[in-house]
Amino acid sequence: MAEQIETMTPRSQRIRVWLGRVLWLLAGSLLTLLLFVLSAWLWGPSLLAHRTDWPFERQLGRTMIDRAAAQGAAQLTPPSSARPQALETGRIVYLGACSQCHGADADGKGWLGMLSYPPASALNDADTQARSDAELYWIIANGLSFTGMPGFGDRLSDEQIWAVVTYLRSLSPNTLAPVPVIPTPTTQELAGADSTQTGASRGAALYTALGCVNCHGAVGNAPGRLELRATDQRAVRAIREGTEEGMPAYSTDVLSEADLRALLQYIATFRTSRP
Ligand code: HEC
Ligand code: HEC
Repeated sequence: MAEQIETMTPRSQRIRVWLGRVLWLLAGSLLTLLLFVLSAWLWGPSLLAHRTDWPFERQLGRTMIDRAAAQGAAQLTPPSSARPQALETGRIVYLGACSQCHGADADGKGWLGMLSYPPASALNDADTQARSDAELYWIIANGLSFTGMPGFGDRLSDEQIWAVVTYLRSLSPNTLAPVPVIPTPTTQELAGADSTQTGASRGAALYTALGCVNCHGAVGNAPGRLELRATDQRAVRAIREGTEEGMPAYSTDVLSEADLRALLQYIATFRTSRP
């Protein structure tokens, strides 16, 4: 009996020591968890609201984008040579799908892009040109989580995305390709846009208010395929249903039948107002 007690005692002591350690560990984890929940509760809302940079936040974001793009691009092979039309296709897709955020001149000053955090970046700078074609493709196709950059993989075809990449390349500060500039309306043109009027004057007001002017030019005189002449059924379909090239659809919610007729009446004046 005495022998037995002697061997038991150190063993139960050891068990008690271990139990003590485990309890401390549990208490420690619980405290950490509590602190975590408490700080998330206290500072969480300000995380959602913050609109200024914390130290190194931009650099950290940049590094994350670099790593994601490099990883994603590893499985991609760009087409061996861009088709000659790629630049024009790329420009149209860019104006339709990207310019609201990255700006018509790719300077990052699109009206929508300036509202997000982080703001949409300039795409005509050395940072963007430093990326490989495959990296640009990957970013455009997949988007960037935690930023406002949407993925276009399910909306644009492969060919359209490579075309946008070709277009972005043409914006390199070194090549300075002659990117056509969409004309801004003159005061005379704007004077015609009286919203109390009917017919063509009403159409002129709508043309500016609905943003048509941003893509198609003041008097439909944007370069290339963005030039506006048509006022027939094809035009109606493009306006109501949008197009794959990035023409937004304007439903009856934003554009009533009467307003659509006024708009077409205004577009019809373009034919006479320019050669
Ligand atoms: C809704 C707004 C929005 C639209 C539309 C949009 N982007 Fe972005 N884009 C962003 C934001 C925000 C970022 C992240 C900026 C940052 O922090 O670098 C971004 C980042 C990018 C980047 C990575 C820039 C870099 O080097 O860090 C590329 C390339 C890019 N966009 C291309 C495009 C192209 C091409 C289109 C059109 C097919 C497009 N984006 C449409 C908002 C937008
Ligand atoms: C974000 C840019 C954008 C905006 C805003 C926009 N469009 Fe377009 N529009 C396009 C693109 C891109 C096309 C397609 C060009 C092509 O396929 O050749 C197009 C095509 C059209 C066409 C067909 C042209 C043709 O001859 O087949 C009409 C008509 C048209 N737009 C009218 C309008 C009107 C009216 C508005 C304003 C209510 C408007 N668009 C707003 C980009 C835009």
